[in-house]
Amino acid sequence: MPSAVPDAAERRRPLRSFVLRQGRLTAAQERAFAQLWPRYGLAWSPGTPLDLSDCFDGDRPVVLEIGFGNGETLAAMAAAVPAWHWLGVEVHAPGVGHLLLECERLGLTNLRVIRHDAMELLAHAIAPGSLARVQLFFPDPWPKTRHHKRRIVNPAFRDLLGRALRSGGVFHAATDWEPYAVQMLEVLEAAGSPLRNTAGPGGFADRPDTRPLTRFERRGERLGHQVRDLVFARR
Ligand SMILES: C[S@@+](CC[C@H](N)C(=O)[O-])C[C@H]1O[C@@H](n2cnc3c(N)ncnc32)[C@H](O)[C@@H]1O
Repeated sequence: MPSAVPDAAERRRPLRSFVLRQGRLTAAQERAFAQLWPRYGLAWSPGTPLDLSDCFDGDRPVVLEIGFGNGETLAAMAAAVPAWHWLGVEVHAPGVGHLLLECERLGLTNLRVIRHDAMELLAHAIAPGSLARVQLFFPDPWPKTRHHKRRIVNPAFRDLLGRALRSGGVFHAATDWEPYAVQMLEVLEAAGSPLRNTAGPGGFADRPDTRPLTRFERRGERLGHQVRDLVFARR
């Protein structure tokens, strides 16, 4: 009978902001991993360095999108701003496969994909001050109180953002879950935060035109949820 008391291995396992779903890859996504991953994918694993200048040609602003889902928004933004370099990190394999196909369809040359936990990537791979922007659109809201500790926007995440962003660099989040939007404000504006609210204390930002509608945003809108944008700058 399973024990209610977590064993030692379980206690050591960090609390993740995701649960890996066993989604099946479509035939097209299988082909994408076989043929497109070598072009767009970065096989980073903890313990190895990640030099962004090796990942992209030339020295241009780098934008990191965390938890890009199926990647449509990220691919559209990368196509709209070809002069920048775009890096996506996501754990869900079918979403990664979908983005690879979008990269091919749009002929992108300025986007790279990592399949990994973004927290680990920020903590161990991204050099301090190396990112121009970080974007986090419709992160899992973990609505139950006992799951709030799984929300990715927490003080540790905020401090990792502060380390990764260059001075003046921007963190842009959007959510359709109002209690999470309020918690994000609290965390990002807490005393000692390396980030400053560009909308003024306690303020939400206007939705920037540059952010295309995401799949989860359309779902939130169908449910009648108000969408909140938060735009913070590295001090
Ligand atoms: C609710 S979905 C939103 C997807 C997309 N941003 C959108 O708006 O359509 C949240 C996504 O974040 C991913 N995710 C959650 N925690 C993550 C982490 N620590 N590292 C990488 N991806 C993560 C999940 O796999 C999921 O695809």
